[in-house]
Amino acid sequence: MKLNIAVLPGDGIGPEVTEQAIKVLQAIALEFDHTFTFKQAPVGAIAIDETGSPLPDTTLNLCKQSDAVLFGAIGDPKYDNNPNAKIRPEQGLLKLRKELGLFANIRPVKAYDMLLDKSPLKEENIKGTDISIYRELTGGIYFGEKKLNDTETVASDLCEYSKEEIERIAHLAFKAAQTRRKKVTLVDKANVLETSRLWRKVVKQVSEHYSDVELDFLFVDNAAMQMILNPKQFDVILTENMFGDIISDEASVIGGSIGLLASASVGDKHAMFEPIHGSYPQAKGKGIANPVASILSAAMLLDHFKLHNEANMIRLGVEKSLQLQITTPDLNSKHENITTDKVGNFIEDFISHPKDTNLN
Ligand code: IPM
Ligand code: MN
Repeated sequence: MKLNIAVLPGDGIGPEVTEQAIKVLQAIALEFDHTFTFKQAPVGAIAIDETGSPLPDTTLNLCKQSDAVLFGAIGDPKYDNNPNAKIRPEQGLLKLRKELGLFANIRPVKAYDMLLDKSPLKEENIKGTDISIYRELTGGIYFGEKKLNDTETVASDLCEYSKEEIERIAHLAFKAAQTRRKKVTLVDKANVLETSRLWRKVVKQVSEHYSDVELDFLFVDNAAMQMILNPKQFDVILTENMFGDIISDEASVIGGSIGLLASASVGDKHAMFEPIHGSYPQAKGKGIANPVASILSAAMLLDHFKLHNEANMIRLGVEKSLQLQITTPDLNSKHENITTDKVGNFIEDFISHPKDTNLN
């Protein structure tokens, strides 16, 4: 298969982790006889520095013309504590999601057996956890009208959802559940929010098309608690934009490191693959960033094009690296000096020589 992949490394550790994902994809191309072409473009703080815009038109056009986008990370501390900054790196990512119509963000959360002791949660509570979070990505409070009064003393962000916006992601969540443990949990705040009540109504209607899937509802505050107490109860979680953002960071504690969590953002025409973690500026250039989230995002990219054997090969390589503790310091490896690069090289070698890979 021929694939044109736009690579947007972004800020902080973005470039170093995406480099590993590209390495791994190139190994897959060689091994399985595919042609993957990579074209890079700036986004985020680095794009603001270079062009004045967090998402230059050339970057957006490249993404629109590509089969898929591999995204690194976004954000720079110089904007975080500056409420006066009118142009911000995150606007680049939000505009990209909107322009590409990436309405569903899929975030798998898994407890790997060999990492159970890395989580602060009790092993017996998390062992076997396997959740797929379906986060709505182009609506809600992230994209509603924003206001700040003249004296800058009152501000508001509007949270708005339409029936259509809810329906399209709900269908994807139910279809996913049909291939899994056949349960969808809608996370909302329907005891308070009008938008959540609309979500409940619409999702109930959609569920009628999927009689083999059980649907239940959970308020987001309770869901946040259940995620820690008993995450095994969840199969597919369906939720709106901001709740999904928060609950997925929380869920990353189950796996032992946020550096392991990948995601796919999909729409009708385009698809983008990105780790859920941020730009981790303190780690930039130190070789300590975990590339696994980016590498697993590359696996999700392959799944998107139905290259499942290829995707599984990457996952096997990742699991092997975790088993042998060839991991960056976030996972407390017993080996010293395992850098971002070494993890990438190990998984690349695993793909090129599946039988004789060992640590050297
Ligand atoms: C994420 C990030 C983004 C979000 C930020 C960088 C805008 O936290 O992808 O989860 O809030 O969606
Ligand atoms: Mn987030």
